[in-house]
Amino acid sequence: MLGNFIYSNPTKLYFGKDSLDYLKTELKKYGKNIMLVYGGGSIKKNGIYDKVMEILKSCGKTIIEDGGVMPNPTVEKLYEGCEIARENDIDLILAVGGGSCCDYAKAVSISAYCNDDPWEKYYIKFEEPDNKIIPVGCILTMVGTGSEMNGGAVITNHNSKLKIGHVFGESVFPKFAILNPLFTLTLPKYQMVAGFYDIFNHITEQYFSGVDDNTSDYIMEGLMKSLIHSSKIAVKNPKDYEARSNIMWTATWALNTLVAKGKTTDWMVHMLGQAVGAYTDATHGMTLAAVSLPYYRYICPYGLEKFKRFAVNVWNVNPVDKTDEEIADEGLAAMESRMKELGLVMNISDFGVTKDMIEGIADSTFIMEGGYKVLTHEEIVTILNNSL
Ligand code: NZQ
Ligand code: ZN
Repeated sequence: MLGNFIYSNPTKLYFGKDSLDYLKTELKKYGKNIMLVYGGGSIKKNGIYDKVMEILKSCGKTIIEDGGVMPNPTVEKLYEGCEIARENDIDLILAVGGGSCCDYAKAVSISAYCNDDPWEKYYIKFEEPDNKIIPVGCILTMVGTGSEMNGGAVITNHNSKLKIGHVFGESVFPKFAILNPLFTLTLPKYQMVAGFYDIFNHITEQYFSGVDDNTSDYIMEGLMKSLIHSSKIAVKNPKDYEARSNIMWTATWALNTLVAKGKTTDWMVHMLGQAVGAYTDATHGMTLAAVSLPYYRYICPYGLEKFKRFAVNVWNVNPVDKTDEEIADEGLAAMESRMKELGLVMNISDFGVTKDMIEGIADSTFIMEGGYKVLTHEEIVTILNNSL
């Protein structure tokens, strides 16, 4: 049964080749001081930085740059960003980059004026912001996380070996997001396919939970089919605009809260992947790829009906004269062979994880309760060992 829910998404999206033209319109809504957040320099190489700077200058803005946001942004960087934002009385944080820049911008937006330690408040106690929030806008250059239209902000604390995502409410969503698929074409293949798997897994995390017949599951099957189709084209020809633009749009819908409405969700693959990430700093989408099949094969017997539906509706497995188990297995085998075709990392040992690290990674894994089986610590150890 579809549960009760409220649906609202406050992020205004500008999509397409001309979408950057609308930055001017958005900038008019905010004060003079703009904090320009970006990563390790890709935007300087591909010309996006120059384009954005030109628009900011033409609007008479004072630009305070905060570059060097690393993939998997750290708590130390967050503290640094808070100081920059406070000292410069920032009116808008403009993130230009992937999920790391968008997440970081959101984390700074709620932390700059926070009286407590933001790591403790937001990531250990999971409290909501109750102080001034600086508005955030995003110009997306990497597709996958959905951060451009959600309240998520993932921060890594290497000292405590924790990578934690807090999904905040509407007040933390970006005010606007500019999605130009052309901006994503310079992504290295490794990042591009990691993003593809991140999208796929956002959908499966929300799909593999509950057995009810609901609209969300049908939407998700459509999104998965679109992604399977377009990723096949994009991996052969990364410059295919049609495929890349469809994938960009799918990524946003995979995690902008819509498909989770009215149903339970799982998120255990992300918990396992984030724990692996806390130990290795590996690329987010790849950590998910490496733990997914061991996890799904482990829980398949507990959610057999849905795995059967996944095989038939998403992977076109012919169910005739087969047992439920055979159908479900064929679906996961089809998923595995497509993952390998994309060039995804299929083992956590590829990130340097060794057997002696498994207990620690299991300790850093949060246990969620929305999936088909609430895992024990020992089961997490088994799944991680199967992922080596
Ligand atoms: O730093 P630069 O030089 O920009 O290079 C980046 C980075 O090295 C590069 N890149 C991005 N756009 C590019 C480009 N290179 C060439 N051309 C371009 N157009 O790609 C690398 C990865 O970027 P990053 O932003 O780290 O990747 P992604 O978008 O996958 O973000 C990952 C972060 O998002 C979190 C992850 O945990 C991780 O910390 N997530 C956020 C979520 C959310 N807000 O809801 C949900 C996700 O599940 C995820 O956990
Ligand atoms: Zn993800």
